[in-house]
Amino acid sequence: MKTYLVTGAAGFIGANFVKYMLKKYEDIHIVILDKLTYAGNLGTIKTELKDPRVKFVKGDIGNEELVSYIFAENDIDYVVNFAAESHVDRSITNPQLFLQTNILGTQNLLECAKKAWMTGKDADGYPTYREGKKYLQVSTDEVYGSLNKDFVDPQPLVIKDEAVKSVVKGRSAIHTYGKYFFTEDTPLDPRSPYSSSKTGADLIVRAYHETYKFPVNITRCSNNYGPYHFPEKLIPLIIKNILEGKKLPVYGKGENVRDWLYVEDHAKAIDMVLNSGRIGEVYNIGGFNEEQNVNIVKLIIDTVVRLMKEEPHYQKVLRTDISNINYDLIIYVGDRLGHDMRYAIDPSKTAKELGWYPETPFTEGIEKTIRWYLENQDWVEEVASGDYQKYYEQMY
Ligand code: NAD
Ligand code: DAU
Repeated sequence: MKTYLVTGAAGFIGANFVKYMLKKYEDIHIVILDKLTYAGNLGTIKTELKDPRVKFVKGDIGNEELVSYIFAENDIDYVVNFAAESHVDRSITNPQLFLQTNILGTQNLLECAKKAWMTGKDADGYPTYREGKKYLQVSTDEVYGSLNKDFVDPQPLVIKDEAVKSVVKGRSAIHTYGKYFFTEDTPLDPRSPYSSSKTGADLIVRAYHETYKFPVNITRCSNNYGPYHFPEKLIPLIIKNILEGKKLPVYGKGENVRDWLYVEDHAKAIDMVLNSGRIGEVYNIGGFNEEQNVNIVKLIIDTVVRLMKEEPHYQKVLRTDISNINYDLIIYVGDRLGHDMRYAIDPSKTAKELGWYPETPFTEGIEKTIRWYLENQDWVEEVASGDYQKYYEQMY
């Protein structure tokens, strides 16, 4: 029986991780710690909150008294830190909050876990810890910076390593926009306040490992998509706007490339790293699934129209006529400041060491995601009430 402290689990990926784990393991306890910022929503985890295996604590990962209390009250085996300010655009307008939560909050979690798990010191003066404990920092490909100069027309993606090929089983995408990929050894080179704050967090996690031999893993994942994604991010924002017949804002020329991964595949990878990742190691997680933003928007338009035609009952959620849903809705708006051009994760190490691969083909994942939004408009309305409207009007 393991007890997990999962922070930020009222948000997008944390919630999907908790759902995945509760389904997979019967013998499990999960303590959720979430501040319930604009991005955290109890409606996202309403079923899980009724589960006797789950405890919910509302609070800040930076609150030392509260986090120490959680460790005193629960025999935590694993910490999985999802809690963060996660949106690049918001980091451009309010960088300080990102440093506060993402760096100082992470350091507080590390320190409280270290105190709770420490048993003594070894002959060299390094702390020793109770068996089987681990802290996992959920990080991002954005810490590696941007593959700005390595940008070409789409080329076939050839995976040369036979061991990786046999793991990904031909599920990988068909093209890439450059020769270079981020590996775990790529130097950290963040560009935005968000990615700098996530890099700061990664570095303090590494410092705890090197200085105190604290048991950690860091995972660095590419762009996730799927259910419960807050509609400030590209994919859920585009789905929401299409259904309302609103314009679809694409930054700059729409050429920027992201590598998209279905969120459940990310949850699965984190579980595997917790179980089998070597202590102190970084693991990249990615979809082998690069695409330019404008093509993502077009794919979503095409998929919504197809679903509406194949299953006309979905048309009841439309606030516009289906004939209005076409590429003319796309508008090119001012570019994001310092907009990273291309991210491309190489998850070969994770595939080879842990047998993980991105299982969900993109077209299948996008269809599942769109169906989820069509069937869960109540959730969208709930999270988009309040401050969301003000944010949207300021942004677009
Ligand atoms: P999200 O914004 O949807 O959710 C963040 C959650 O953290 C919210 O529930 C929020 O209430 C909570 N939170 C924020 N500040 C907190 C604090 N100080 N104390 C406690 N809780 C707090 O984010 P997400 O997209 O689910 O991302 C989760 C993590 O994964 C983040 O660390 C992010 O950097 C990382 N990540 C995200 C992606 C992606 O594509 N979304 C990709 C790679 C890594
Ligand atoms: O790469 C992993 C990262 O992915 C995570 O670490 C972040 O937490 C997560 O927010 C995400 O960051 P991005 O900036 O890549 O995601 P976002 O959905 O904000 O934007 C995706 C791309 O789409 C990006 O190039 C900007 C562009 N975009 C975004 C929005 C919201 C648009 O063109 N129009 C939009 O309205």
